[in-house]
Amino acid sequence: MTDAGFETLAIHAGQDPDQLTGAVVPALYATSTYKQDGVGGLRGGYEYSRTGNPTRLALEQCLAALEHGTRGLVFASGMAAEDTLLRAVCGPGDHVVIPGDAYGGTWRLVAGVLQRWGLRHSVAPVTDVDAVRDAAEQAGTRIIWVETPTNPLMGIADIAALAEVAHQAGALLVVDNTFASPYLQQPLALGADVVVHSTTKYCGGHSDVVGGALVVQDEALGESIAYHQNAIGAIGGPFESWLVLRGLRTLGVRMDRHSDNAERIVAFLCGHPAVTEVLYPGLPGHPGHAIAAHQMRRFGGMVSFRLAAGAQAALDVCDRTELFILAESLGGVESLIEHPGRMTHASVAGSTLEVPGDLVRLSVGIETVDDLLADLDRALSAAT
Ligand SMILES: Cc1ncc(COP(=O)(O)O)c(C=O)c1O
Repeated sequence: MTDAGFETLAIHAGQDPDQLTGAVVPALYATSTYKQDGVGGLRGGYEYSRTGNPTRLALEQCLAALEHGTRGLVFASGMAAEDTLLRAVCGPGDHVVIPGDAYGGTWRLVAGVLQRWGLRHSVAPVTDVDAVRDAAEQAGTRIIWVETPTNPLMGIADIAALAEVAHQAGALLVVDNTFASPYLQQPLALGADVVVHSTTKYCGGHSDVVGGALVVQDEALGESIAYHQNAIGAIGGPFESWLVLRGLRTLGVRMDRHSDNAERIVAFLCGHPAVTEVLYPGLPGHPGHAIAAHQMRRFGGMVSFRLAAGAQAALDVCDRTELFILAESLGGVESLIEHPGRMTHASVAGSTLEVPGDLVRLSVGIETVDDLLADLDRALSAAT
């Protein structure tokens, strides 16, 4: 099965037909505990659902196969996955390097929560390998944390180069692969040590679930994270795991349509007089284009752009679209629009990670693209 293609793995890995009934869809094991056949007589190792649940395991196995890792671990949210990982790998006095435009929640966790427990951090632009290397020289660097493409500025990190930097510094390279999804990019194959997902986004794909995941290459690291996950308790529930697994089965076809639609929208925005800059790694003029073309299958459904008329115009455009729903989050089948400075990235206001006020972020869905273009055209016409 490991040699199978992506879509085959997405539909079959961890999802053998049910032994008892032949059901082709994995069962939803909504149970907290399991009958023991005499004390310690566990069936299949199952004892208690915080420690293990067959529906969660099915998703973990599928994600591990898609990311080419040895082990997947499924959490209650992307942030729960991040917190567990940082606590499993780092201790007081240790140091992590985080991206210059990290997801606001990652920044809040590191700077607002874990700093109080003695975790030190530096901020470095992930697009600049030398800057990351310099930041990683600090004693006690345990993790270089990377998002690529970054959220919301769509910067591209060179995963293979940063893996080398991390390993030279004796650190792990952690890649938040939420924006790309495992269909477009597989960081472990490029040398990363851990992949993070907010499965809330493309993996789930239907905006009906909150979840997170980690996938690792090293078995001992996987064991250590599993120990911490069980101790901390931020596990993904069986229903949420079942929904994400259902989402994964169509990830490939969805990502291709997200990418098709985004490409059409990028072309439209590039020619629009109200727009000063379009941030999309698929554009040949994007500074990370060559690296993205090498490490990504396609360029995905996330597009950011800046308005010539400034911050108020950006807020107005967000208010005026009808099909693009004004909402946080991303990666669902429906198109979303948001103002990062006031919404997803409000928590970094005033910090070095602050994002420009004239920036709008789109999560381009898989609706009929002509309808999406018409909606944006209407919303932007007042901004010229
Ligand atoms: C890139 C990225 N990483 C992590 C997270 C956190 O995931 P969750 O909201 O599932 O906790 C998000 C959420 O928006 C995100 O965009």
